[in-house]
Amino acid sequence: MSATGETKAMTPPDIRMRKGQTPLVCLTAYTTPIARLVDRHCDIVLVGDSVGMVLHGLSSTLGVTLDMMIMHGQAVRRGLVRSLMVVDLPFGSYEESPEQAFRNAARLMAQTGCAAVKLEGGEKMAETIRFLGARGVPVMAHVGLTPQSVNTFGGYRVQGRGDDAERIRRDAGAVTEAGAFSVVLEKVPEPLAKRITAEIAVPTIGIGASLACDGQILVSDDMLGLFSSFRPKFVKRYAELGDQADAAIAAYAADVRERRFPAAEHLYANETKAGGVT
Ligand code: KIV
Repeated sequence: MSATGETKAMTPPDIRMRKGQTPLVCLTAYTTPIARLVDRHCDIVLVGDSVGMVLHGLSSTLGVTLDMMIMHGQAVRRGLVRSLMVVDLPFGSYEESPEQAFRNAARLMAQTGCAAVKLEGGEKMAETIRFLGARGVPVMAHVGLTPQSVNTFGGYRVQGRGDDAERIRRDAGAVTEAGAFSVVLEKVPEPLAKRITAEIAVPTIGIGASLACDGQILVSDDMLGLFSSFRPKFVKRYAELGDQADAAIAAYAADVRERRFPAAEHLYANETKAGGVT
């Protein structure tokens, strides 16, 4: 709570200070109703570019545009009170130059009200992260498996096995040095996640990166059982809402076909009842 009694939202410095403390709880949201549901329980709500695959049926995140992120960001903003809202910079909106990244990050912040952006990449993005930080744009970095590079990796493979671990360590170190306030570590082996978490000064947020991380993130639709096109090993299903929705829709269809719906309680009387309730 603030001095005025209003609930104060988490800030990037609050998140940074959670290094080594109680694990950070993070989920994605793309709409107002899901944002309202997750806000009470989360420290960070990410408007991820996974929205392209989860809500728009794209086969990768590469087709997601800045306008899509702005529209979903605005919807999520309306549902959040206390969590830190972070919005992904989509593929093609930041890689060209620090100036391009700033222009698009500033649009995201101004038009959605997010307090930070996330971008993918390690050493190569360090200069951009420094440039953004110096101009009022807090950055959450994302290293390991970076889905926007799916074509370079040749699939959504585990990153940082064997000798490749050094590359991911350098990436995590470089983005931390550049001023990222937290680092998403995706799909890396546990010993590497442990080492990076011990080495860098800001919280690591794991997705397929073990309990060693300072926090965890999942795609809400994955953990709720609403997205079933594929299911990575790192996803734990906390509900099967997709199955429940299927059963509900089947029951509705049967009721309509059998003329059981609408029933008497769903009908409007010809005249207003005493008290004026319709
Ligand atoms: O786009 C996304 O949802 C993400 C998280 C899974 C980390 O980047």
